[in-house]
Amino acid sequence: MIYARIAGTGSYLPEKVLTNLDLEKMMDTSDQWIRERTGIERRHIAADGETTVDMAERAARAALEAAGYGPQDVDFIAFGTTTPDMVFPNCGVLLQARLGCRGAPAFSVETACSGFMYALSIADKFVRAGEAKRALVIGAETLSRIVDWSDRSSAVLFGDGAGAVVLEPADAPGIFSTHLHADGRYKDLLYCGGGTDLSKTRRTIAMSGNEVFKVAVGTLGKAIKETLEANRIECSGLDWLVPHQANLRIIQATARRLGLPMERVITTVQEHGNTSAASVPLALDTAVRSGRIRRGQLLLLEAFGGGFTWASGLVRY
Ligand code: COA
Repeated sequence: MIYARIAGTGSYLPEKVLTNLDLEKMMDTSDQWIRERTGIERRHIAADGETTVDMAERAARAALEAAGYGPQDVDFIAFGTTTPDMVFPNCGVLLQARLGCRGAPAFSVETACSGFMYALSIADKFVRAGEAKRALVIGAETLSRIVDWSDRSSAVLFGDGAGAVVLEPADAPGIFSTHLHADGRYKDLLYCGGGTDLSKTRRTIAMSGNEVFKVAVGTLGKAIKETLEANRIECSGLDWLVPHQANLRIIQATARRLGLPMERVITTVQEHGNTSAASVPLALDTAVRSGRIRRGQLLLLEAFGGGFTWASGLVRY
């Protein structure tokens, strides 16, 4: 039996930091309001001309280095993003060209904030089927380019960045299971136009914050329970919850419902804001590099985003 395991992680954050105090100068908001409602203190913003693939390349190279592989070893690229550089070629292909690893499949997945988790699930299946041996899984976003900077209720939430993992085959899991879901009935609560439906004239993020909040908390609790039940373990058996970093209150409410102490939850939303598909791999890499997440520990990853889409998975790091 072949399983997939995480051989290495990497991430990248743009140099420019936008604090809540900076936002106070740009719009009618306050550091106190943003902290109290979201936990966010600062976020990173891509430089002029810096793209999603620019950031992904940095994260990918860091993950490959951590795994002890080179770009030539990569034989599969699954790229989660909602802010692609171009309509086509997709970001996976653009990244492949940068890395110089030719011929292998490379594609992007557009499931908003769940993009990395969907990409991870697909890559896991290819590794387990014996069809990929060094799979690069990316989550990268330049949300600052699709944020409506005149809408204070959403503009304060988002940031830019990239995260990556390299998967390799192993005799034991690695990835125990992943669980993907979507419910298109919620399509109008969180969306961004700009595609070929010209009636969707809004090309920036539109969000009904309160409704999104409520559905997110309920759905994520169920997603975590589904993953625990599928693997016949209790919450107490987890070393870490690595949640989607949308809002500290959503993370706290989810943890509370599960009876999971916040000491066992990785939070980076304070520093990164919501980086959509990049948020889970960014949180994972941050915790790995700071020494909090260690080899052999059991992690539950989860994400929730526009669509709605949501996903979770159990991983032994
Ligand atoms: N600064 C100051 N005041 C703000 C503000 C800001 N940035 N944004 C909104 N407000 C005001 C509103 O205008 C409203 O004022 P009013 O009562 O005078 O009308 C008040 O704050 C409360 O707004 P409300 O939308 O009810 O706040 P909230 O407690 O629901 O918090 C969010 C708003 C967006 C932080 C919260 O709903 C949320 O996090 N939702 C989930 C969003 C999310 O995670 N999306 C991504 C999912 S992947």
